[in-house]
Amino acid sequence: MLLNLLLILSIPFSSSLPAFASKAEADVLLKWKNSLINHNNPLLSSWSVDPTGNLTRVNGTTSTSPCTWYGVECNNHGDVVKLNLSESKLNGTLKNLIFSSFASLTHLELRLNDFFGSIPVEIMYLSKLVFLDLSGNHFSGTIPQEIGMLMNLETLSLHSNNLEAHIPVSLGNLSKLSYLRVDDNKLSGSIPRELGNLNNLMKVNVSVNVLKGHIPSDLGNLTILSELYLFLNNLTGSIPPSLGNLSFLKILVIYKNQLSGRIPDEIGNMKNLITLHSGHNQLTGSIPASFGNLRKLKILDVHVNLLSGVIPIELGKLESFVQLAFSHNQLSGHIPVSIGNLSKLEQMYLNDNRFNGSIPKELGNLTSLVELILFNNQLSGPVPNSLGNLKKLEQFAVHDNKLSGYFPETILNCQKLRYLTLGNNSLMGHVPKSVCNLISLETLYLGNNQLSGIIPQCLSNFSHELKILDLRMNRFHGSAPTTFLKQNNSLRSLNLNGNRLQGSIPRTLINCRKLAVLDLGNNMLTGEFPFWIDTLPEMQVLVLRGNKLNGTLHTSNTKPQFQKLRILDLSSNEFTGLLPSNYFNNFKALMTLDRSASGNLYMGGKFMYDDTVELVVKGLRLELQKILVVCTTIDLSVNKFEGEIPDTIGELRALRFLNLSHNSLSGKIPTHLSNLVVLEHLDFSSNKMTGEIPEQLASLTFLAVVNFSQNQLQGGIPQGGQFNTFENSSFQGNNGLCGFPLTKKCGDDDDDGISFSQKDEDEDEDDGFLNGFSWEAVVLGC
Ligand SMILES: *[C@@H]1O[C@H](CO)[C@@H](O)[C@H](O)[C@H]1NC(C)=O
Ligand SMILES: *[C@@H]1O[C@H](CO)[C@@H](O)[C@H](O)[C@H]1NC(C)=O
Ligand SMILES: *[C@@H]1O[C@H](CO)[C@@H](O)[C@H](O)[C@H]1NC(C)=O
Ligand SMILES: *[C@@H]1O[C@H](CO)[C@@H](O)[C@H](O)[C@H]1NC(C)=O
Ligand SMILES: *[C@@H]1O[C@H](CO)[C@@H](O)[C@H](O)[C@H]1NC(C)=O
Ligand SMILES: *[C@@H]1O[C@H](CO)[C@@H](O)[C@H](O)[C@H]1NC(C)=O
Ligand SMILES: *[C@@H]1O[C@H](CO)[C@@H](O)[C@H](O)[C@H]1NC(C)=O
Ligand SMILES: *[C@@H]1O[C@H](CO)[C@@H](O)[C@H](O)[C@H]1NC(C)=O
Ligand SMILES: *[C@@H]1O[C@H](CO)[C@@H](O)[C@H](O)[C@H]1NC(C)=O
Ligand SMILES: *[C@@H]1O[C@H](CO)[C@@H](O)[C@H](O)[C@H]1NC(C)=O
Ligand SMILES: *[C@@H]1O[C@H](CO)[C@@H](O)[C@H](O)[C@H]1NC(C)=O
Ligand SMILES: *[C@@H]1O[C@H](CO)[C@@H](O)[C@H](O)[C@H]1NC(C)=O
Repeated sequence: MLLNLLLILSIPFSSSLPAFASKAEADVLLKWKNSLINHNNPLLSSWSVDPTGNLTRVNGTTSTSPCTWYGVECNNHGDVVKLNLSESKLNGTLKNLIFSSFASLTHLELRLNDFFGSIPVEIMYLSKLVFLDLSGNHFSGTIPQEIGMLMNLETLSLHSNNLEAHIPVSLGNLSKLSYLRVDDNKLSGSIPRELGNLNNLMKVNVSVNVLKGHIPSDLGNLTILSELYLFLNNLTGSIPPSLGNLSFLKILVIYKNQLSGRIPDEIGNMKNLITLHSGHNQLTGSIPASFGNLRKLKILDVHVNLLSGVIPIELGKLESFVQLAFSHNQLSGHIPVSIGNLSKLEQMYLNDNRFNGSIPKELGNLTSLVELILFNNQLSGPVPNSLGNLKKLEQFAVHDNKLSGYFPETILNCQKLRYLTLGNNSLMGHVPKSVCNLISLETLYLGNNQLSGIIPQCLSNFSHELKILDLRMNRFHGSAPTTFLKQNNSLRSLNLNGNRLQGSIPRTLINCRKLAVLDLGNNMLTGEFPFWIDTLPEMQVLVLRGNKLNGTLHTSNTKPQFQKLRILDLSSNEFTGLLPSNYFNNFKALMTLDRSASGNLYMGGKFMYDDTVELVVKGLRLELQKILVVCTTIDLSVNKFEGEIPDTIGELRALRFLNLSHNSLSGKIPTHLSNLVVLEHLDFSSNKMTGEIPEQLASLTFLAVVNFSQNQLQGGIPQGGQFNTFENSSFQGNNGLCGFPLTKKCGDDDDDGISFSQKDEDEDEDDGFLNGFSWEAVVLGC
């Protein structure tokens, strides 16, 4: 009896009694298995005993140990040393796993299951444990500080759980630890400086938590550290100079924190550094010249910070450089000629800074370059011809600069170009037909330059890929491209606004089934309304303002029509006839108050850029998206429309801007307008409207601007709500109107209507018209 007791007591400490040890371990495992929610999991079918209580039979013999069970591995003595149940869909807790029964366990791996509950403090009994991986489960609660007692631990992986509270200081006791991952949890508090004790650490990942405080300078003591990931936390303070002591560090990733201060020169001592990613912080000061010592550096990404100063010429020594991302800072000066030495460079992002001077011709030596992104700077001079050597170039974005000279024809030698954005510069000359050799082109933005000549016809038929063709605000003449012959083409946006184009609207646009934006405004186009466009299912923005289009607004007879339309601007043409009431009850997008319906105009396909370097056409995309959500518009002003305003206009609940001014509309203002609950601008001025202004309009709480002037309206102006804020100029020129803000009081018998003050205001009428909102004004306002 006594002997038995002694034996039992000694079990966990003995390896000379394998049978007993194994039996006890097996019992514990079985008990645990039965506690699991899905204990019928077929993977665990080998975890069983026969009816006599023996352990499972293997090959016809009775086994006395769990050593043959799925995921269990024993040593020569039959003690369980490894338990590996990763990716087994197990669901349950660790509560019933009696850790004290596994004195020999060195390896516990439960990653990628559905375990939940806390990590039991009893885990401290696994004193031989070398490898612990509980990642990819739903463990919650704290990391028990008792883990700090597992003195043999080399690998600790607790990432991708729901762990919270602090990283325990006691981890600083794990002197053999070489691999630490607690990323992707909800850990808070600061990074314990005690981690700086762990001389054997090679890899640390604490990213994607809510850690606060400074990066401990003690991490600079981790002499053999090779990878350090701290990104996506709430770390503050500056980057400690001591990190410069990490001479074996290859990867330092600290982006998306709130780090401030200068980048320490000492970083230049990390001579093995390959990747430095510290984007999305508030780093200030300049890029240290010492970076020129980082001969192995491939990726230097500091985008979205507050860095200033120039790019050090020393960076020209970094022969291994592959990606240089400096976008969204306050960097200035010239792009150093020495950058032309970086023969392996594939991506260069300098957009959204203050660089000036010219684009160095030496960049033409960067024959590995795939993306050259320089937009939104103050670069001047011509685009160097040498860039035509960049045979791998897919993206060349230099819009929003001060580039001058003739259209850079040699860039058209870069046959792989997908994005070519030269817009908003001062380029002149013609666009050669050879632009159509760029058969992979997706975006061509040449708008806002002084380009002239004829738009190459081939632009309408050369590529299946072209999504965006933006040539607005140039001096092109002749006709618009007319040969959109390819069925299934990808064109989404065609913007030729503000040129000198003549002729009619090309009927072949009917082949552009994905067209969402068509802006042909401010040209000299003639002919009738392109009614057939209402069959294009994606149409969201149709702007034809400022042309010489005439006839009535007839519709095609197909349904649905203009389901996604959000902006219709036909202002300043010569349209006649009635307003198209049958259109107004088809504009589904304008009838639904739904912000998410903004459409994925520029998001579709592969148009968007990788988030790490959120980029390029972003400017264009945002601009338009904002417009689409915020600027729902109908502008039919300055035409010759007549008849009444159809009641159906009251269905367009999402409408914010409505301008019907300067027509010959008559009849009453529809009371249904009070349904337009987000309406901000309403202009009916200079028509022949009669009757009263409906009282209900006073309920429109967003209404900021109204203009009813120069009509034949009568009666009292509605009072209250936004109507308390309108100037009398909004109502002048209506003989029959009375009440605030006009000086004429209602009930006043004096019918001649025009009081002194009103006469004064009449003289402002022309100004009023010029200041009236137009689509462009509206867009600026958005
Ligand atoms: C296994 O069960 C049998 C009865 O079926 C029993 O006689 C035997 O002792 C058990 N073996 C072990 C090793 O416990
Ligand atoms: C069971 O038998 C198979 C084939 O006969 C053999 O490969 C395997 O190693 C045996 N397993 C055990 C635990 O003896
Ligand atoms: C644990 O099991 C998984 C999946 O079966 C396997 O990928 C992994 O290599 C195993 N771990 C060890 C240390 O053998
Ligand atoms: C695991 O079990 C819990 C409790 O029954 C259940 O709520 C949860 O959905 C299960 N998880 C999975 C992935 O099956
Ligand atoms: C472990 O660390 C804690 C906190 O740093 C300390 O108080 C404790 O004495 C250490 N334990 C061992 C066994 O070293
Ligand atoms: C570090 O953690 C992040 C977040 O969980 C993860 O996406 C990334 O793959 C990890 N990297 C390494 C090398 O551990
Ligand atoms: C790191 O090193 C510094 C200086 O060598 C020392 O003062 C500090 O205590 C060390 N930190 C840790 C946590 O060991
Ligand atoms: C991170 O810090 C910022 C500023 O101090 C704070 O607004 C934000 O709520 C913090 N985020 C978390 C998840 O703690
Ligand atoms: C680590 O860096 C700091 C600051 O750069 C320096 O003062 C210290 O001497 C360095 N420690 C070692 C061990 O090199
Ligand atoms: C880098 O470029 C500069 C200027 O073009 C040149 O003087 C220098 O020799 C080059 N350095 C290397 C290492 O090639
Ligand atoms: C780099 O470009 C310049 C100017 O385009 C040229 O003169 C020079 O030979 C090129 N250097 C190399 C190494 O190709
Ligand atoms: C439209 O304008 C053209 C001249 O551009 C003219 O020939 C035609 O008669 C006009 N049509 C209508 C209906 O006014």
